[in-house]
Amino acid sequence: MEDPLVQLRSTVLQCRQCGLCEGRQHVVFGEGARQAALMCIGEGPGYYEDVQGRPFVGASGQLLDKILSVCGFSREKDTYIANIVKCRPPGNRAPTPEERSTCLPFLMRQIEFVQPSIIVLLGATALQGLVDPSARITRVRGTWLTWHGYWVMPTFHPSALLRTPALKREAWEDFKKVIDKYREVVDPHHYSPHH
Ligand code: URA
Repeated sequence: MEDPLVQLRSTVLQCRQCGLCEGRQHVVFGEGARQAALMCIGEGPGYYEDVQGRPFVGASGQLLDKILSVCGFSREKDTYIANIVKCRPPGNRAPTPEERSTCLPFLMRQIEFVQPSIIVLLGATALQGLVDPSARITRVRGTWLTWHGYWVMPTFHPSALLRTPALKREAWEDFKKVIDKYREVVDPHHYSPHH
């Protein structure tokens, strides 16, 4: 039997359920470790992601890679990376509520198939698209949410950190909590920034 995640990927690559399919070069399904304990969810593909068909490969992606590696995580071995919408919104506008809700069942199934222990929501679109449309990222970032049995940590999107470097301190506090939780529920021997 074929891996359901592989099956889902081929379905999503052919999706034409919303208008974003018209302008895309590639569908960006998501990628990473098949049984990743850590899943990072962003907003949607930008220019470079659309060109390459891979999530987080532009400037935000480089910063995300750096953050993950400082936290002792390997993007390939420990992490699965996906987005709320799989096709690039024109001009990098935020996806509309309709686009988000059309695409959401795909993400829900990715989460179900990967079964991460911890989900990091990168930015307001990920927080509002997955958990609560009225939640404010500035208010709930850094606090643990439990959602469908998963530990969920909302934090700033890397693009916000690039725009406003002063936010990096708070983001580091959030990622320290992710490391602590990872040590608690996944691997007690994982690197700790506290000792
Ligand atoms: N920003 C996102 O939200 N997702 C990507 O894949 C790249 C940039």
